[in-house]
Amino acid sequence: SRLWAVVPAAGLGSRFGAQLPKQYMSLAGKTVIEHSIAALLRCDELSGVVVALHVDDKIFSGLPCANNAKVMQIVGGAERSESVELALAGLSAAADQDWVLVHDAARPCLSDQDIQALLLRAREHPVGGLLAARVVDTVKRASSQGEAVATVDRNDLWRALTPQLFRYGALRDALIHCRERGLPVTDEASAMEYIGGRPLLVEGSHRNIKITYPDDLTMAAFFLAGGVN
Ligand code: CTP
Ligand code: MG
Repeated sequence: SRLWAVVPAAGLGSRFGAQLPKQYMSLAGKTVIEHSIAALLRCDELSGVVVALHVDDKIFSGLPCANNAKVMQIVGGAERSESVELALAGLSAAADQDWVLVHDAARPCLSDQDIQALLLRAREHPVGGLLAARVVDTVKRASSQGEAVATVDRNDLWRALTPQLFRYGALRDALIHCRERGLPVTDEASAMEYIGGRPLLVEGSHRNIKITYPDDLTMAAFFLAGGVN
């Protein structure tokens, strides 16, 4: 079976609040999305990468990576899950048993070691898996009044990161299943959970942050200057 990647990059970065979507902000000499795609392309066994872009995107096609023979572009949707579903539909060369890595354009600090750990461990699992990080803060359950009602045991709580790795056919079918039922899908693992799958949690680096607010860009620049590999 072959290995593919999908990069959801059709968001507008409303929380970041810049003129341009956050994946096009400058970071250590290139744009955020170029770091995210470069990390995937360092994996030699990858057959291709499909990037889901906003319908009005005028920037991606001007980046050097748009000319890479392994990089394909499609138009994404209004939700991240829809962008991923459309990207999978655009991967006409993929077979159901192939594996697909889904990685946020907004995560530029992905290390080779984390990709390799995910590939090694999740491909041994019947469902697949995702990079994840342990929750470090004490977690509270709140009432509707905004008061702490209980402290949640954090020993079995993880933060879902990307990449997430699943079989092409199973992920496509899970996303369709969830969309048809209006189930909220915020990552690929949640779609697999809804159809009864139990994706493997592979502990990844805490440096693999998602750019959400401007301060995250400062943090990413610091991590990349030190080298994530
Ligand atoms: N994404 C996408 N299609 C959407 C929404 C998001 O492909 N309709 C992508 C984003 O471009 C990003 C990743 O999914 O790479 C994670 O989403 P998020 O961090 O929420 O990015 P935005 O939606 O752009 O940011 P915000 O929610 O602050 O508007
Ligand atoms: Mg969003």
